[in-house]
Formats: sequence, structure tokens, C-alpha cells
Amino acid sequence: MERTLVLVKPDGVQRGLIGEVIARFERRGLRLVGAKFIQVGQSLAETHYAEHVGKPFYAGLISYITSAPVMAMVWEGPNAVAAVRQTVGSTKPVEAAPGTIRHDYALEVGRNLIHASDKPETGVREVGLWFKAEELVDWNRAVDAWVFEK
Ligand code: RTP
Ligand code: MG
Repeated sequence: MERTLVLVKPDGVQRGLIGEVIARFERRGLRLVGAKFIQVGQSLAETHYAEHVGKPFYAGLISYITSAPVMAMVWEGPNAVAAVRQTVGSTKPVEAAPGTIRHDYALEVGRNLIHASDKPETGVREVGLWFKAEELVDWNRAVDAWVFEK
């Protein structure tokens, strides 16, 4: 089953939106397989955002993600990466569709509440970066047959 990394970024944690974010993914039918509440260090932040090195917003991005704790989670389901990105909304909150998390709770790209893996391969890499294998739980829900077709 496809997996994706979701971070409730420091602004989402500070604003008390962890529960709201979790509720939306639960409601969608995605299955939680890992979660931890952590203070991100410089090295993890730099590895996670390596693709953005050299961009004008890079320094601000590193200081943002390391500024306060984050809630890191792994969610799975069919097309989990695309489903989560859709629920999260576009990177710039003012361009995010109504009903998405970034539309409903954010205004600025540098305070856009949430990270979500952008492709299935990125999901595999990011889940491996943020979680050890033993921190992920393989489990079934009684309701799975009513959410997952296969
Ligand atoms: P994320 O990685 O956080 O899920 O967001 P994303 O894929 O939608 O956006 P990405 O291009 O990967 O950018 C990562 C984060 O960098 C900040 N950003 N600032 N000032 C800017 O133009 C700008 N562009 C990106 C955002 O916090 C974005 O989520
Ligand atoms: Mg991204």
C-alpha cells in the first residue's frame, strides 16, 4: 500500500491544528501507520529540504521547520500521496482550493502548516528518512474492506 510522509509544521502545532489535520486524513479513509512528535534538528531539516538548497526561501524554510516541534506522521492507502496532496491543497495557500487544509487555515507560503510527500518515490525516501522500520505499524482496520476496494 502506498505511503506518504505528512508533517504538521511548527505553525500548525502552535495553532493547535494537529487534531484537525489528523481528523481530515482519518475521515478520508487513510490509515495511520506511524506518528511522532519531535523537535527537528538542523541536520534532519537540511536532508529533508536538500532539493531546495540555493533557492531564495531556503534559509527561511530551515529556520521555520526547526523553530518549534512538528508532528510527523505516515499515512497509507491507495494513491496515498496524491490523496494527501489534494486534501492539503496548493503550496501557496491563496491558490489552494476551498475546503483544503491550506485554504481553510493558512494565508502565506512560508506558514502553510503542513508538508506532504510530492511523489510516491519521495514518499518512500521521506518515510525512510523520518521513521525507523520498527516505528511503523502494519495493521488492519475492521473497516478496511469498506474503504479499500482491494
Ligand atoms: P511541502 O514540501 O512543504 O509539502 O510543500 P510543497 O511540496 O507544496 O512545496 P515545495 O515546493 O516542496 O516547497 C517546500 C516548502 O517551502 C516553502 N516555500 N516557500 N517563498 C516561496 O516561494 C516558497 N516556496 C516554497 C513552503 O513552506 C513549502 O511548503
Ligand atoms: Mg515539497
